[in-house]
Amino acid sequence: MAELESVQESSQVQELRVKYLGKKGRLTEILRGMGKLSAEERPLIGQLANEVREAVENGLEQKKQTIEKAEIEAKLAKETIDVTLPGRMIHTGNRHPLTLVIEQIEDIFLGLGFTVAEGPEVESDYYNFETLNLPKEHPARDMQDSFYITEDILLRTHTSPVQVRTMEKMQGKVPVKIICPGRVYRRDNDDATHSHVFTQVEGLMVGENVRMSDLKGILLEFARQMFSDDASIRLRPSFFPFTEPSAEVDVSCMFCGGHGCRVCKHTGWIEILGSGMVHPRVLEMAGYDPEKYTGFAFGMGVERIAMLKYNIDDIRHFYTNDLRFLKQFNRV
Ligand code: PHE
Repeated sequence: MAELESVQESSQVQELRVKYLGKKGRLTEILRGMGKLSAEERPLIGQLANEVREAVENGLEQKKQTIEKAEIEAKLAKETIDVTLPGRMIHTGNRHPLTLVIEQIEDIFLGLGFTVAEGPEVESDYYNFETLNLPKEHPARDMQDSFYITEDILLRTHTSPVQVRTMEKMQGKVPVKIICPGRVYRRDNDDATHSHVFTQVEGLMVGENVRMSDLKGILLEFARQMFSDDASIRLRPSFFPFTEPSAEVDVSCMFCGGHGCRVCKHTGWIEILGSGMVHPRVLEMAGYDPEKYTGFAFGMGVERIAMLKYNIDDIRHFYTNDLRFLKQFNRV
């Protein structure tokens, strides 16, 4: 019992148990020696030995429980959780406004039977210009100052090369009905409305009897779904080497409903994209018989659409990634 007093750990209790009560334990040895005793001594010693064993067993058991209790209490004290501490904020991400707008544009055109096509951002001069009716030395190449990598390879200046790549893949089959979202690059000085990298969505439809009125109808539907149910559009004559005739498309000003305000410079109209009927030479170079098939194409700047839709005043907001700007789109 004196030894038990100084015990600190449950392993030591076990050691003592073995020492006294184990197979070769001290008390066990005494009990085993009982046979040698006289008939008078045996019951007395036997009773005594049993009392001693009971006392030792109780002592061990009690010590064991005391130690286990203390151990559990120490553990609990060490692992205390303060449930009153304020929680840690978990920041969740959200989609970039440009991604949101691209997805909205895709949804609208998917609903109109178009599919989504993609092409490389590092493009050949051949697809970026040549097959779009812009031979070398063509003055209209200056409209799009380019980043050249070699003499024949450049960063695409528009998504129009995807038109040609898709038509080549389709090998003369109709209808072709695609939109192509993607990044494009131009040697521009960055300011509130210009960026040397920006995003376009190209559209192309080729088939039998595809007419300019189809282009107009599709774009009107697009403007209504994108901006407002009562939006209207107008086409102004323009020039692109890859379309003939070509038209610039305006949408009625979404800020003043067409009455005239500062944003639309009191005209009631805002330009949103370039378009036209695919030039016969472009169809021909891509393997489509221009006598049999016609098509329309358009190209819009996604940043511009996003700026008009969400009233954003500086294109650089899309690229500087200020969280205060980006976070505003987490519920759009
Ligand atoms: N590719 C032209 C541009 O980037 C836009 C466009 C596309 C115009 C298709 C007409 C047809 O300016």
